[in-house]
Amino acid sequence: MAMLPTEEINRIQRTANIVDIIGSYINLEKKGKNYFGVCPFHDDHNPSMSVSEEKQLYTCFVCHATGTVFTFVQNYENVSFIEAVKIVADRVGIELDSGYKVTSKYDKHYELVDLAVKYYQNNLKSSDGKQAREYLKNRGLSEEVINDFAIGLAPKAPDNLTKLLINKGYSEEMLLDTGISNRGSTLYDLFRNRITFPIHNASGKPVGFSARIFDDSDEAKYINTRETKIFKKGEILFNYHRAQNEARRLKYLLVVEGQMDAVRIYSCGLKNVVATMGTALTNEHIKLLKKLNTTIVLCMDNDSAGEKATITNGELLADAQIDLKVLRISGAKDPDEYLLKYSVEEFKDAINHAISFFDFKLNYLKKNKNFSKVDDVSEYVNSVIAELNKTHDDILIDLTVNRLSEEYHIDRNILLNKIIKVETPKTEIIVKPKKIPKARRDKLFDMLIFYMMNGEKYIKLYEQELSYLPDEKYVAIAEDILAFFIKYNYINMADFITYEIDGDNYEKVLDIVDNYALIELNDGEYIGLIEKIKKLIDEERISKLREQLKRESDINAKLKIADEITRLKKRMCNL
Ligand code: GTP
Ligand code: MN
Repeated sequence: MAMLPTEEINRIQRTANIVDIIGSYINLEKKGKNYFGVCPFHDDHNPSMSVSEEKQLYTCFVCHATGTVFTFVQNYENVSFIEAVKIVADRVGIELDSGYKVTSKYDKHYELVDLAVKYYQNNLKSSDGKQAREYLKNRGLSEEVINDFAIGLAPKAPDNLTKLLINKGYSEEMLLDTGISNRGSTLYDLFRNRITFPIHNASGKPVGFSARIFDDSDEAKYINTRETKIFKKGEILFNYHRAQNEARRLKYLLVVEGQMDAVRIYSCGLKNVVATMGTALTNEHIKLLKKLNTTIVLCMDNDSAGEKATITNGELLADAQIDLKVLRISGAKDPDEYLLKYSVEEFKDAINHAISFFDFKLNYLKKNKNFSKVDDVSEYVNSVIAELNKTHDDILIDLTVNRLSEEYHIDRNILLNKIIKVETPKTEIIVKPKKIPKARRDKLFDMLIFYMMNGEKYIKLYEQELSYLPDEKYVAIAEDILAFFIKYNYINMADFITYEIDGDNYEKVLDIVDNYALIELNDGEYIGLIEKIKKLIDEERISKLREQLKRESDINAKLKIADEITRLKKRMCNL
C-alpha cells in the first residue's frame, strides 16, 4: 500500500480550514480569537471545545480531546487516519491519487460483497432479468436510478453466485462470513429470485443486501443479509453514505421506513434521505444521526404502525436532543406512493409544514377520544400534562396550558398545579478532571517542546543553548522536531502532529499541545525557560556527582569529582 506523503497531507491541511470543517459537524461560535462549541467527544452541555483558526487545532478543556482537523474527523467519523485525510480532501476538493489505498481488516469482505453487487447487477441486465426489469419499470424506477442504487437481481438457481465465487478462489468461510451463502448439505446462495438492493456502511462500502420478491410468491416480501462482521443492522441506515453531505448542506435529513421510499425520494432530487429498513432506531443509529448536526424530519408510513414508530423513534431522537420535526403524509400509504401520486413540489411543501414532535404527540393523544365524554377529556388533559412534565420549556408549558384551558374550559390554576415545578437545570459547573500533576521538570520540558513546535527560532535557540535534555522521551521528541524542520524547512504544530501520527511520541505530543495550545508565545519567556532548564540540568548533575563522591574510595577520583561539582556550582551562579 502506498503511503500518503506528508507533503500531500499538509497541503490538504493548509487548504482546509479547521473552523469550516469542525463547524460542519458542530456549531461553533467565535469568542475573541478562537471558536467554541459543545465537545462531541464527551457528554458535554457547555461549549468546552475551543478551535483555533490561527493554530489550526482544537482542544477540549474538559475531556482534553486535542488535535488537528484530521484527528477530529477521524474520531468523529470513527475512521482511520488516512480515511479522515480522504474525507477532508474530498470536502475541500482535492483529488487524491487513487493509488493511496485505505486498508481495513475487512477489505476482503467488502471486496466480496462488491463482487456480489456487480454480479447481481449484470444478472438484472441479462436476458434472465426481463421479468424483474419489467417489475422495476412498472414501479417507475428509471434505468438511471437502478444504476445509482446498483439494484440487481439474484438468479433463481440455488447456488450460481456461490459457485462462481468459489471458482474465483474465495473460501467457503468467507462466503458464510459475508452472509452471501448459507450452509445446507452444500453451500447455496442466500438470495434467490429476488431484486437486490445493496446496503452500504457510513463510509460507502457495500456490506449487505435487502432483497425483494417481484412475483406473486408468498415468501417474505424482503429478506436481508443476516448479521455479519460488516453488516450490523442496528448500525446501518440505508443511503446514509449518500445522504450525509447533502443533509449537512440543506440542514435537514429525512428519515423514512422503507428503502423503496428512500430510493423514490432520492430519485426525485432530495438526496438527504435515509431509511430505517423497518426496524426501530437503535442507539448506534441515533449516534449516526446526531453526528450530522441537522434537523431530522421523521416521515414514517401513513398507518398506525408508522404512527407508533414515530412515537418510539421520536422519543429516542428527542432524548438525544436532536432537533426533530414530524411529517405525516396523507393521501398515500408511504412516501414512495405519495411521490408517484403527487408532485415533488407538494412533497417539499409538506416537508416545510412538518410539525414539532410535541404537536404530533398532542394530536396522537387525541386519537380515539370522544370529546363529548368527560372521562375522555379528562384522560386527554392528564396525558398532555404528563407530556408537559417531561419538558423544561416554560413557554411551551404556558402556551399549552392556555390552549387546554380555553379549549376545554378548565381553570388555568388547576392545570398549573398539576405541573411539577422542575428547577431549570443549573448550568453545570465543570470540574476539570485532574490530570496527574506534572513534576516541575516535566513542565519545563513540555513548555520547551511546545515552543519548538511553534517556530524555527525556538528550534535554533534550543540547538545553540541546550541541544540536549536529560530525559529520553523528550530528547526523542526534540529530535523529531529537528528532523521535521530539516526535511521541510518550516514548522507548525498542526503539521507536526500529523507527522507524528504513527510514531511512538504521538500521545505525548498531543498531551503537550493540549496543555499549552492556547498560550501566547513570548520570546522572553522562552529564553527564561532555557536558563531554567540549564540550571536544572546542572542541579541534577551535581546531585548525581555527590552520590558518586560518596561511593568513590580512590582519593584522586574523589578530587576530580569535587572539582567538577565546584565548576558546575560556579556556572550556576553565573546564570
Ligand atoms: P415496497 O413494498 O417494496 O414498497 O417496500 P416498502 O419500503 O414500502 O416496505 P414496507 O413499508 O412494507 O416495509 C418497510 C421496510 O421494512 C422495508 O423497506 C424492509 O426493509 C422492511 N421489511 C418489509 N417487509 C419485510 C420482510 O418481510 N422481512 C424483512 N426482514 N424486512 C421487511
Ligand atoms: Mn412501499
